[in-house]
Amino acid sequence: MTADIAKINAAAAAVAYVEEGMTLGLGTGSTAAHFVRMLGQRVAQGLKVRGVPTSEATAQLARECGVPLMDVAKVGALDLCVDGADEVDPRFQLIKGGGAALLREKIIAQAARHFLVIADESKMVERLGAFPLPVEVTPFGYALTAAKIYTALRDSGCAGTEVALRETAENAPVVTDGGNFVLDCRCRAIPDAPALADRLKRITGVVDHGLFIGMARTVIVGKAKSADVLER
Ligand code: A5P
Repeated sequence: MTADIAKINAAAAAVAYVEEGMTLGLGTGSTAAHFVRMLGQRVAQGLKVRGVPTSEATAQLARECGVPLMDVAKVGALDLCVDGADEVDPRFQLIKGGGAALLREKIIAQAARHFLVIADESKMVERLGAFPLPVEVTPFGYALTAAKIYTALRDSGCAGTEVALRETAENAPVVTDGGNFVLDCRCRAIPDAPALADRLKRITGVVDHGLFIGMARTVIVGKAKSADVLER
């Protein structure tokens, strides 16, 4: 409950960044969902914006909230992208993908002139890696890809490496909006996130990973009664 209030406070502070006529990337997850609902209230009051959702779930929520959506195929650049995170370190490096939407989230965040992250304070960490790092992989040969990822994690100095296929409650593989699988990598600590990011991207079968490096410009940290705005 306290975390939810903190998420609401972060989302509310992010709404202040939205200006008339903006094109917006709409993130995925419970914190981003608060932002979409608040944006819907502003749209109902007359604000004119258009959004690009980072998942089918966010697309559906945006429609329910009356937020007009753009076809991603027609998007050049976006003004602002607002999204949550699973971990944020002091250099604004992120782990994302707890909601299995990391690929679309990264594409949209990279298209935005301003990537703004909203998170409750439990997401702020000194070093990334306690949250299992999600890696999106093609279903074909995923166990072979998982073995390569395991080696990359071990060679990158990650402690406690373990690579697990994300499954549903019925023990079926979780399938992303893009039709891929997700491998959750228990690293415990990631000593050099940019180096690991590069290594993972070089593995055939890896579609993308949940390390968002050098992308976030603003982080809004929601607390029980306020929100702190951090700028890079
Ligand atoms: C979705 O794939 C994720 O990247 C989310 O942005 C992240 O898991 C944060 O989710 P919550 O806002 O629900 O904590």
